[in-house]
Amino acid sequence: MCGIVGAVAQRDITGVLVQGLQRLEYRGYDSSGVAVISGSGEIERRRVEGKVKNLHELIEREPLSGFCGIAHTRWATHGVPSEANAHPHICGDIALVHNGIIENYELLRKQQLENGHEFDSETDTEVIVHAISDAYKKTKNLVMAVQDTVASLSGAYALGVVEKGNNEHLVAVRKGSPLVIGVGENEHFIASDVFALLGEAEHFIYLEEGDVADISCSGVTIYNEQGEQVKRKLNKTKLQAGETGLGDYDHYMQKEIFEQAAVLKQTLEGRIVNGRLAASCFGTDAEEAFKSIEEVQIVACGTSFHAGLVAKYWFESIAGLPCHIEVASEFRYRPHIVKNKTLFVTISQSGETADTLAALQASADIGYAHTLTICNVPESSLVRESEWALMTKAGPEIGVASTKAFTTQLTALLLLVIALGKHHKIDDKKHIEIVKQLEILPEQVAEVLRLEPEIIEFANQFSDKHNALFLGRGEQYPVAMEGALKLKEISYIHAEAYPAGELKHGPLALVDDQMPVVAVAPNNDLLEKLKSNLQEVHARGGELLVFADVHAAFEEVEGLKIIRVSEIDEVVAPIIYTVPLQLLAYHVAVIKGTDVDQPRNLAKSVTVE
Ligand code: M6R
Repeated sequence: MCGIVGAVAQRDITGVLVQGLQRLEYRGYDSSGVAVISGSGEIERRRVEGKVKNLHELIEREPLSGFCGIAHTRWATHGVPSEANAHPHICGDIALVHNGIIENYELLRKQQLENGHEFDSETDTEVIVHAISDAYKKTKNLVMAVQDTVASLSGAYALGVVEKGNNEHLVAVRKGSPLVIGVGENEHFIASDVFALLGEAEHFIYLEEGDVADISCSGVTIYNEQGEQVKRKLNKTKLQAGETGLGDYDHYMQKEIFEQAAVLKQTLEGRIVNGRLAASCFGTDAEEAFKSIEEVQIVACGTSFHAGLVAKYWFESIAGLPCHIEVASEFRYRPHIVKNKTLFVTISQSGETADTLAALQASADIGYAHTLTICNVPESSLVRESEWALMTKAGPEIGVASTKAFTTQLTALLLLVIALGKHHKIDDKKHIEIVKQLEILPEQVAEVLRLEPEIIEFANQFSDKHNALFLGRGEQYPVAMEGALKLKEISYIHAEAYPAGELKHGPLALVDDQMPVVAVAPNNDLLEKLKSNLQEVHARGGELLVFADVHAAFEEVEGLKIIRVSEIDEVVAPIIYTVPLQLLAYHVAVIKGTDVDQPRNLAKSVTVE
């Protein structure tokens, strides 16, 4: 999604702005731009379609410099990716960048056209800059002009605004879209997230909903939505600039797949004590409240939703607790019947996904007893707005395709299954058994990663295909869904997942030698059923790749390739079997030569509805 960077300092900040944009590239975008207040007080702007490197090259050809400025990566919503639609947008003395969507822009645009404004772009954003410019003409006070304007906006927005002739301050606003202020020595920055400013600032202020900040070199004055001056906490980040490097890997996705053994260990650290879940894992008040929880409602999007689907099986079969799950964008827009004592759980890597956040915000009115988020970003909106949070500790995930976030989410969810289930079906023996499996999980992940050479071999047969099916049964069905999502998002091969038993009810018609079928087959109660389903595929000339337990007694024959996975316990099987599917998607994409880390049209942090 769109990324914002801004700076006010006593040095040329053009380089800081462009570098910040490069650090935000992982969020996904299709054009970029920068505007600075030059030494003569003019607003100087450069914008390009495509990658930030194009912007960098343009600035080399047509340099600009200034002590105060704003920059932006745009992920197109209203209007095609183009230079004219790229931010910053300018009207009169004002330039601004925006992340979010203005829902009442059509009405505002109509009014502004009637008042004589001309539009240079197709964006919803342009109405904001016209409105600020009009308000500014009256008072010549940028903060007041911004406050006046945002009162007329509906939708989501994070804004960075500068004015002609003033290189000593910029104004920032946050409502529904993330924005942080970086605090340096006699200089300040704004950005969509902390990564953009690593190396420039260590301390950050997280703006709250509706905050307007007046930012200069020497200080930051923040006003809440009611216009009252307020103080916001200063936080020191634990992230280091080096942490987000690629190391020896070719892509972030590859690095993140291979980090999984280590980050799973990190997610478990301090949470297991003497073979049991640590009492401090969720905090004492949560532990107390968990005793009375009788149902779980999970809400999430994309990969995080798949993690929730696996957890539904775990909650119901292991913990004996009813669990409902829904994608956030659907959950928001229908009425709900909530039983007393239901725990509302959100799952999110970024903690900024607009639909998930909105669902959380609606949950109190709907009547959920308590809220908990499983999240990877400690300073995120979901963490700040949930009653309890269990951090996944995966470290920064840069690749758009979620990998280590998913397996750490599953690990954290298993901890929650124990914490709630011990008041229901999980007795002490079962508790100890699950914890034992979690303790050996990192080693097992390291082992399954060694299958990479065999997977690369198969990926070569896969890369010229246009469609694929993924099959699983039980809790492996969401694993198959995750495998299909990974393949489609980075290789652009159309892939669908089905519960294997559902094939004969329709999708079997698609099977021929051009339709690879990937199945996950751990040694569980459903194995024999799955084998029959796979026979149905094989009999119709389908090309099968099966990730199967070593003891699953599969014979490799023409059209049926087996990659054998070491014996593992059923409870952790969804985590283990996910890893080879990630590797398959990754290598198919590499062979196809797609942009693995920043696949077309996608954004890492989906901060619009
Ligand atoms: O940050 P979140 O986990 O809330 O993001 C949810 C989805 O946007 C995300 O999982 C998306 O589906 C990934 N690109 C999948 O790889």
